[in-house]
Amino acid sequence: MSQEYHITSLVVLFMLNACSGQQAATQADPVNIASLGQSEITEVRAADAMPTYPKRGKSIERTFVHQPPLIPHKAQYPINLKKNSCMNCHSPAKAKRMKATQIDASHLLADSKLNQHYYNCTQCHVPQADNKQPLVENYFSAK
Ligand code: HEC
Ligand code: HEC
Repeated sequence: MSQEYHITSLVVLFMLNACSGQQAATQADPVNIASLGQSEITEVRAADAMPTYPKRGKSIERTFVHQPPLIPHKAQYPINLKKNSCMNCHSPAKAKRMKATQIDASHLLADSKLNQHYYNCTQCHVPQADNKQPLVENYFSAK
């Protein structure tokens, strides 16, 4: 911030003080705009790269035994009280027709119905996309 700007803002603050008669802060904290993508508010920034998922029908190699497999596609399918959209493709009844892997036997009760403990799929399964700009640095190694 330039010296000149400081002086002008001080003058403006002084004037505001004088007009309103209220106690205004003498020095405003800098505004944190990191959540806007770390660019100046006036700057036009190129859009982030779209996430790219593995080719259709490909599953992602697992890195450890009993790892909940990563989801190789977008995961914004609604899971709520009324419906579980994941089951539209992954239920034992529909998986074959939808060319998807059916849910693990551990997710099923003896009568082949979904065990409700497994209802919230995305609590364990997370989508994995090849994002051009990683949002979070990750140094995970299975070794
Ligand atoms: C439109 C159909 C469809 C829907 C809806 C769907 N999937 Fe999939 N899913 C697939 C297909 C096709 C594959 C790739 C083949 C495979 O590996 O099962 C797949 C793969 C997966 C895999 C990887 C399986 C493996 O063995 O590696 C997981 C985990 C998964 N999906 C979870 C989910 C979850 C959780 C939801 C809900 C948020 C969901 N899917 C919704 C069709 C679907
Ligand atoms: C409590 C955690 C958890 C929840 C909730 C859960 N899963 Fe899983 N899922 C797993 C684990 C762990 C495995 C791997 C099992 C193994 O290999 O031992 C798995 C395996 C799978 C597989 C691969 C099966 C195979 O034969 O390769 C699919 C598909 C799947 N889950 C889909 C779903 C769907 C759809 C839901 C929601 C209805 C769901 N899961 C809910 C933990 C979970």
